[in-house]
Amino acid sequence: MQHDELIALADRHLWGHFSSIGSAVDRMRIVERGDGCYVWDTNGNQYLDGLAGLFVSQVGHGRVELAEAAGRQASQLAYFPIWTYAHPGAVELAARLASLAPGDLNRVFFTSGGSESVESAWKLARQYFRVIGQPERHKVISRHLSYHGTSMGALSITGLEVLREPFEPLVPGVSHAANTNRYRCKLCADCPGCTLGCADDIEQAILRAGPETVAAVFLEPVQNAGGCFVPPDGYFARVREICDRYGILLVSDEVICAFGRLGSMFGSERLDYLPDIITCAKGMTSGYAPLGAMIASDRIAEPFVGTDESFLHGFTFAGHPVSCAVALANLDIFEKEQLLDHVKANEGAFRSALEDLCDLPIVGEVRGMGYFYGIELVKDRGTRESFSEEEAESLLRDFLTNRLLDLGLICRADDRGEPVIQLSPPLVAGPEEFDRINQTLRKVLTEAQGRFSR
Ligand SMILES: Cc1ncc(COP(=O)(O)O)c(C=O)c1O
Repeated sequence: MQHDELIALADRHLWGHFSSIGSAVDRMRIVERGDGCYVWDTNGNQYLDGLAGLFVSQVGHGRVELAEAAGRQASQLAYFPIWTYAHPGAVELAARLASLAPGDLNRVFFTSGGSESVESAWKLARQYFRVIGQPERHKVISRHLSYHGTSMGALSITGLEVLREPFEPLVPGVSHAANTNRYRCKLCADCPGCTLGCADDIEQAILRAGPETVAAVFLEPVQNAGGCFVPPDGYFARVREICDRYGILLVSDEVICAFGRLGSMFGSERLDYLPDIITCAKGMTSGYAPLGAMIASDRIAEPFVGTDESFLHGFTFAGHPVSCAVALANLDIFEKEQLLDHVKANEGAFRSALEDLCDLPIVGEVRGMGYFYGIELVKDRGTRESFSEEEAESLLRDFLTNRLLDLGLICRADDRGEPVIQLSPPLVAGPEEFDRINQTLRKVLTEAQGRFSR
């Protein structure tokens, strides 16, 4: 089908996610092909995929070995559930993930994606505490601005008012604590150094909720929404200590931060903490098939092992045979091409390519780690003055998003907090891609500051 015909049909029938229907259809890019770090649209334009799709395409696009793994599995056994039964791919992948996960996180519960993983973790925490005789523990603490997914449980954990408000009342029992935005820290900005007030704020939220009623704290290793908030040194050690003090589970939501995004297989490993549960998805298959997982520690699984107690929860497509085969082949590529080492060897160059832009007055801060970075944009670098809501809307939606696409760079211009540009390229990216990102951003941000900054 030709581009114009696709646009007309999309305009009439496609309900895009988090998109308004029928607006800016003429500017919609219909992406039809990918190879490595690049994708092409139906008009033949090439883009550098600086967001790995949506923090997904770790090994890059067009990997024939993953397509072949999917084809082989579909020919042999396209579908069978993991309710009551098992299939070899689910078993092998569970064992492989357990061997890669930190500590005693050995029990893998498959899902079809990130929201389902988060939903599953909250439900497991609730059932776990019922089974061990603490039924009053059902609440969750997460952080302001955090994104944990869209299903009702995951949305309730999400800390973004704008996403929550249309669906209220949400699942009760969630409170939000400070995030780790050091650039605009309200807790210790006036102190000589970080006091870990953001970790202590989690304790305050626990105390307000009633410690004996809290089941879990949900945190991303590096918080995506708001723009790649990296925790200060000692943050997770303090949070772990707080959770242990009150008998609360620590859930590491690694839907973005696992599978090499931070240069380690799991983000908690890079930041040196041991959660009770990891939620993950996205990069597990590099997007060649949908799959997610919740990985629980032996301690949390223990009351369900060899007893009549089953976790009363599941999804038809979770642990899909094709997805499991793809995930195994994806992990083979990680090993064969030493992708974690590649990220570690190149993350400094990536950071430098972005920090090079700090001479532009519109660039407030560059933050992140591994291949996961945010650039906060400000009206005035000296005073850190923010853009107004209307200015931010105009800067991001009317200008930056389209201008960057016109120049062939896919990244995320986001204002769920202050305006940020986020970059999360495929893990196979290297100096050539970093140069192109640098040059495109320099051009577009220079234009933007002429229009929007002081
Ligand atoms: C940290 C985190 N948790 C959960 C989700 C939800 O994942 P999904 O969109 O696969 O449901 C996301 C999605 O980006 C995420 O970033």
